[in-house]
Parts: sequence; C-alpha cells; structure tokens
Amino acid sequence: MKLLENTLLRAGQIRSIEGTPCFDEQVIETFLQAPYDPLTSFEGPPNYSLQRGGRGKDHPRYGRFVYALARHYQPDYVVEVGTFAGGTAVGFANALIENGHGRLLCIDQDSYSHGTFPEVVQRNLQRVGLPSEQLQLCCGDSKTWLPDLANDLSEKVGIVLIDGDHTFAGARTDIQNALPLVKPGGLILVHDVDRGRSMDEATEAHPHPVYEAFHSVVQEQHLDWCILKFIRKHLGIIRVGRSPSQTKQSVA
Ligand SMILES: C[S@@+](CC[C@H](N)C(=O)[O-])C[C@H]1O[C@@H](n2cnc3c(N)ncnc32)[C@H](O)[C@@H]1O
Repeated sequence: MKLLENTLLRAGQIRSIEGTPCFDEQVIETFLQAPYDPLTSFEGPPNYSLQRGGRGKDHPRYGRFVYALARHYQPDYVVEVGTFAGGTAVGFANALIENGHGRLLCIDQDSYSHGTFPEVVQRNLQRVGLPSEQLQLCCGDSKTWLPDLANDLSEKVGIVLIDGDHTFAGARTDIQNALPLVKPGGLILVHDVDRGRSMDEATEAHPHPVYEAFHSVVQEQHLDWCILKFIRKHLGIIRVGRSPSQTKQSVA
C-alpha cells in the first residue's frame, strides 16, 4: 500500500494519506488514466459564484476519483448525499454508463442550489448520457432519505458518497445511516474530512466537524478507513466490513 501512496504523491494528486489505505490499488491506475474532466460542458446553477462553474475547488479531480472507484468496484447502486449541481454525480454517471449497469441515487435538499435541484443536475447527467432508468433524484433531507432507502437497499449499495450537512451531528448521522445500506466490502466516501481549514459549521465543541464525525464513527464501529489528502480538500474513505454490527445501525 506504500506503493499506492507513492504513486499518488509522485503524480502530484495528494499531499499525504492518513490511516491505512483501504481501497484496491488498481483504482489509482484507473484514476490516473481517466479523462481529465468527466464533463467539460458542466453547467452550474445560474448566478452561483463557485469556482469552476458550479463545482467546488477540488474539481475536476474529485469527480475523476469517484469515477475510478465506480469503474473498479462495479457497484449495482451508488448513493450520493449532497449532489448540488452534480460535480461528483457526473463522475459516477460516466462510470455506470461504461460499466453497463448500476443505478445512481442523488439526494439533495436544495439548500445551496436555491430552487435549481434537481433540474440542473438532471441536465448535466443528460449531457453525460446516463439513461433515466439508471437514475433516481431524491429531493429532501438525507436524514429521512437514507433510513427510507434502507428498506429496499439494505447491504446492496457499493458506494455511498456523503457531502451534505457539514455539521458534526449532521455528518455523523449521515455516516451512521449509510452503514446499513452498504454491502460487505463496499465504501463510504466522506468529503471535507479536513482539519487544516476553517469551516462555517465549526463550533467550539467541534472545531473540525466532519473530521470529528468521521473519526467518531470509524472508532465506534471499528471500521477500516483512510483519508486521502488531495491537493485542495480531503476525502475520507471507509471500507465496510462483514460484521453485522457494522451494518445494522440507523439513526433518526
Ligand atoms: C458541497 S455541496 C455537494 C457538492 C457535490 N457533491 C459536488 O461534487 O459538486 C453540499 C450539498 O448538500 C446539500 N445538503 C446539505 N444538507 C443536506 C441534507 N441534510 N440533506 C440533503 N442534502 C443536503 C446542499 O443542498 C448542497 O447541495
């Protein structure tokens, strides 16, 4: 696994890895060979002043990395919490199209996109060419959606991405509620697991809310984890194990 870290470092993609890499090394090859941008004609929400036209400052790398994970693991289902305009969704969508199977479920309560979710992401996913039968756009709060999805998708989801509520309680609830969905060996990705930058959601009790939420769950549940410190932002990765105690908990 040192090889994996060295390859990413040499390629100038990360600063370091915290923890022990818990995903397959072949993902890196796919990542480094993937097209630079999963959707060059990406459309952001109108009048939204984000860099890269509606994608955060770690794009397009972030979209390219989730593309590589989905190509490698060939998930039957991908669940994304916090889709916004679809910066990561277009990466997943490209992979599912190339895989020839797999369904993408995007959950967002439209709190950042101000009335433009799901229309803008739908247009971006149409540009990529994701067939409608491979897509479900879920409008609303992830705290409701994830437990609801667990009724049908218990232990069926290959990859969950969490990039929604960045408060300590919100991120922790999303990670806990994602666990019952994930199949053994599947992954939970958690964006913004950073300690080095200030976040609007920081409090005195939780100065690094998503980082603390991530660590509180992996420690409690004894999960395999690592954090990829990409050049601009950090992505936590949890590899869900086979123990039932790691996959049965839901939080209201
Ligand atoms: C940082 S953006 C997601 C960025 C996206 N993954 C990308 O790659 O461009 C966070 C999104 O999470 C959504 N969000 C925040 N809290 C949420 C919640 N409790 N349930 C559902 N969506 C939520 C916001 O509306 C926003 O669109």
